[in-house]
Amino acid sequence: MEFDLTGRIILSGDASNAIKDIQKFIANANEELLKKGGIDGGSKIEKWRIDGDKIFLHIKSGRKVRAHEGLLRIKKAMGKLLGEKYHIGIREIKIDDYLINFEIDREPIKKIEIPFASLSIDGKKVTMHLANIDEEFLMKNYVDRMINLVNKKVNAQYYEGKEEFWELIWRSEKKEPIWKKDPSEEMAKLGWIKHGPTKGKWFYRSPATAIMRAMEEIALNEVLKPLGFEEIIEPVHVPFELWLKTGHLEGIPGEVYYVSEPLTRDVEKWEDLIDLVKIKKEVPINLLEKKLSRPKAGMCYAQCPIIYWSFMGKTIADKSLPILVFDKTAISNRYESGGRHGIERTDEFHRIEPVYIGKKEQIMEIKEKLLERYKRVFEEIMELEWRMAWVTPFYMQQAGEIEEEKGEGKEKGTIDFEAWLPYRGDRENSKWLELHNLSIMGNRYTKAFNIKGQKREKELWSGCSGIGLERWTAAFLAQKGMDPSRWPDEFKKYLPKLPKITKFM
Ligand code: SER
Ligand code: ZN
Repeated sequence: MEFDLTGRIILSGDASNAIKDIQKFIANANEELLKKGGIDGGSKIEKWRIDGDKIFLHIKSGRKVRAHEGLLRIKKAMGKLLGEKYHIGIREIKIDDYLINFEIDREPIKKIEIPFASLSIDGKKVTMHLANIDEEFLMKNYVDRMINLVNKKVNAQYYEGKEEFWELIWRSEKKEPIWKKDPSEEMAKLGWIKHGPTKGKWFYRSPATAIMRAMEEIALNEVLKPLGFEEIIEPVHVPFELWLKTGHLEGIPGEVYYVSEPLTRDVEKWEDLIDLVKIKKEVPINLLEKKLSRPKAGMCYAQCPIIYWSFMGKTIADKSLPILVFDKTAISNRYESGGRHGIERTDEFHRIEPVYIGKKEQIMEIKEKLLERYKRVFEEIMELEWRMAWVTPFYMQQAGEIEEEKGEGKEKGTIDFEAWLPYRGDRENSKWLELHNLSIMGNRYTKAFNIKGQKREKELWSGCSGIGLERWTAAFLAQKGMDPSRWPDEFKKYLPKLPKITKFM
């Protein structure tokens, strides 16, 4: 890596008569200040000149004490020198040109661009050119992130269009389905469900609701309560700061339903809009837009981030570990666009999400116990044809990262539970439905939210599992049909018969 910086220090006054001291300062800096901590020579001021209240500098460096870090060091030390002896302060520093040469892991397949810099790439050699940058830019470490971004974008090119990582863990025995129809279509025909008034959302009438609630009962009674999970209730709006910690805004910003607050609730400020609505009986959208704040939050996308937030900065007492909680109230919203289908892929879905935080051993133990109980639910209660597979961890996928190390060594990662949907085609060639997932995310979120165990304890691990009521329902009905008398006996214990449906004339 080579850093080549041309910049200026702008002073509060003419420093021409300090030239001797500055000369000495720079000679010293090249020997000490700019070398401290530098493994490959540190930074070096190659050239400099003073012009009244400006000191022009040309600094070069290798990887450690990068030229811009060197400049920040110079600013601090020179400020002291000029302040004490000459009563001259430093106004600001400016970088006119910054050339950074570095190597990337792989040659780009096609052109890439990043903000704030122009790139020229020759094989694996990159020259990044930045111009007119200020101190804040340097202090906030954008430069390092830009270098990383180049690497990540090139690596991502190698994964485009590739099949997603998927590795079978286990599959159940074959089970003959009762029918091969699409349950969403059939439920819609019978009036059990109705398309919602907005995109990708469903209105569940009583029979469909009863089935979803039976699924919830099963999850609570067969899995969560026996394992000691306790219910919490979380808010449904997620502020951006939280998703900056989890990475969601780097991965799925195009799938979020954003939330805007009104600028005010003062009735007078709304009078013009109210009058227009009264007269025109339509919403004056342009006017409405002016009365809303810019979004600072989005609707729940997954329930776990806000659960981690609730423990942010806390040190958890040993005797409270592992933390076992779940939320079943926050509804998840995702803008699915072209991906929508039936109740299995919707913009709004109902989920129970357990989260577990504890020492690594505790987390590995809870994973085994959850697996065992989920297995009972799918095998003995729903009698499904299903399978388990390692997939790209949800926390990487939702943060827009690529899984390059497959399965993360099988301690961390996401296991998908998938069910065959006979209406999609035969079991070998059709796409199965992800009905459920279970993840162990190591210290990723506990670190991001600074959640610690008691002293001397190692870092805490955590994980979560998304129990999608729509997904369980879709998989069950797709294999077992809609006639309760033909459902498995264990399931019938939870829902012996369906409520009546309103007849329309
Ligand atoms: N947070 C996990 C996911 O979004 C489990 O719900 O898949
Ligand atoms: Zn989660």
